[in-house]
Amino acid sequence: MSRTVAIACDHAGFPLKKALKKAYGGRYKWLDLGTNSTDSCNYADYGHEMAGAIEAGRADRGIIICGTGVGISIAANRHKAVRAALCSNATMARLAREHNDANVLALGARITGVAVALDCIETFMNTEYEDGRHAERVAKLDMGI
Ligand code: RB5
Repeated sequence: MSRTVAIACDHAGFPLKKALKKAYGGRYKWLDLGTNSTDSCNYADYGHEMAGAIEAGRADRGIIICGTGVGISIAANRHKAVRAALCSNATMARLAREHNDANVLALGARITGVAVALDCIETFMNTEYEDGRHAERVAKLDMGI
């Protein structure tokens, strides 16, 4: 069965979200949490919404998009269940999975083009966490939350 991916964006991220969902079609079961237009909204609302879906076990992975990817990833990372990685190329996406066990990919629609964003997603979804020497470091990420 295909993986459930929670996807959320603000108005700046909406065009990229639309393009990604179109490109990936049925390869993933999307849990689309909005926004669904380019009308101005607040990125934090959508970062928290996506994080809620991960916390509740409604999705295995998440993708969040705003203009830079910064604001929405800060909001999402306030949640213990979320390890969101803002990536602008496939190498970052690979290492975010291998070293950080990131479960959410953050993208900046005003920074990263559709083709590179697709590479990031492909890599993020198909790379395993290496565990081992990274386990103690990843465990420490929760300090302070
Ligand atoms: C919206 O204009 C923009 O501030 C937002 O999409 C994001 O880049 C914030 O981090």
